[in-house]
Amino acid sequence: MSSYAFFKNQIVPLDEAKVGIMTHALHYGTGIFEGIRGNWNSKKQQTYLFRLKEHYERMQGGCRLLKIDLPYSADELCRITIQLVEKCGFKEDIYIRPLAYKSSEALGVRLHDLEDDFLILIIPWGPYLDMDKARCAVSSWRRPDDNVIPPQVKITGLYVNNALAKTEAVLNGFDEAIMLTPDGYVSEGSGENIFLVIDGKLVTPASYNNILTGITRNTVIKLAQDELGIKTIERPVDRSELYLAAECFLTGTAAHLTPVAEIDRRKIGNGEIGKITGRLQEIYSRVIRGNHPTYLDWCTPVYKQEVIS
Ligand SMILES: Cc1ncc(COP(=O)(O)O)c(C=O)c1O
Repeated sequence: MSSYAFFKNQIVPLDEAKVGIMTHALHYGTGIFEGIRGNWNSKKQQTYLFRLKEHYERMQGGCRLLKIDLPYSADELCRITIQLVEKCGFKEDIYIRPLAYKSSEALGVRLHDLEDDFLILIIPWGPYLDMDKARCAVSSWRRPDDNVIPPQVKITGLYVNNALAKTEAVLNGFDEAIMLTPDGYVSEGSGENIFLVIDGKLVTPASYNNILTGITRNTVIKLAQDELGIKTIERPVDRSELYLAAECFLTGTAAHLTPVAEIDRRKIGNGEIGKITGRLQEIYSRVIRGNHPTYLDWCTPVYKQEVIS
């Protein structure tokens, strides 16, 4: 299957979408990206884009922060994405990567007096953490404060922090890193938010704990409340609470909802997928594939011909 990209305002074959070696964003990390899922439903022969507009609204916020002029409305960005996904025609789970970036071929650290550009590419991609249960380690790399590099939006340059943590964890034999804030509270995974189950409730770091306020996080909070009647408490989380929690899981567009079996070689609960985690995982996977009637508003179908069963 050939892939296409949206590049310089048009859809082109992926291998024709190239940037020059002096591109500002390549040198200084001056870009804002998003990660969006297209979830394949084989029964309906349909791809559903999950919470598409919310991803572009977050991206618009990031662009304001980095002074990137994104010349499309959120609705236009959604339309372009649907067109591109349709053109690519993948019949499997995909990952969509929009990127708005400082495109001037100019050196010099700054955000002003530079041109901006925008692209979207698509790859077929299964679950990012490709295991039933993840083994995690608390990272020696801390998540930066909002006034260092704002973690609320997806700034390309910020992800060096995530890459340092991820590689440390993987080279030490773990699947994923859990980063702490500079003052030692739990923040998030290198590409996911984190939830604990404590006393039958969900507990997750608050927005002021240097997290990306994830769209999957928001989805899970709503599903837990509306489908299972389980409340989520957003508050600072101590490191030791990680080891003492009954259950733990990670959430993210790429990783979906991944149970955590172990942190720093300590089993979480009995080391198996917890009851609440398993139920949420099952509901979430139905919701993102357009199989849960209550949440169809979150799912944008791509193909015009859908098999109605
Ligand atoms: C650092 C970080 N935290 C959390 C998330 C989860 O965010 P979302 O659920 O919006 O994908 C991501 C993924 O984009 C991420 O990169």
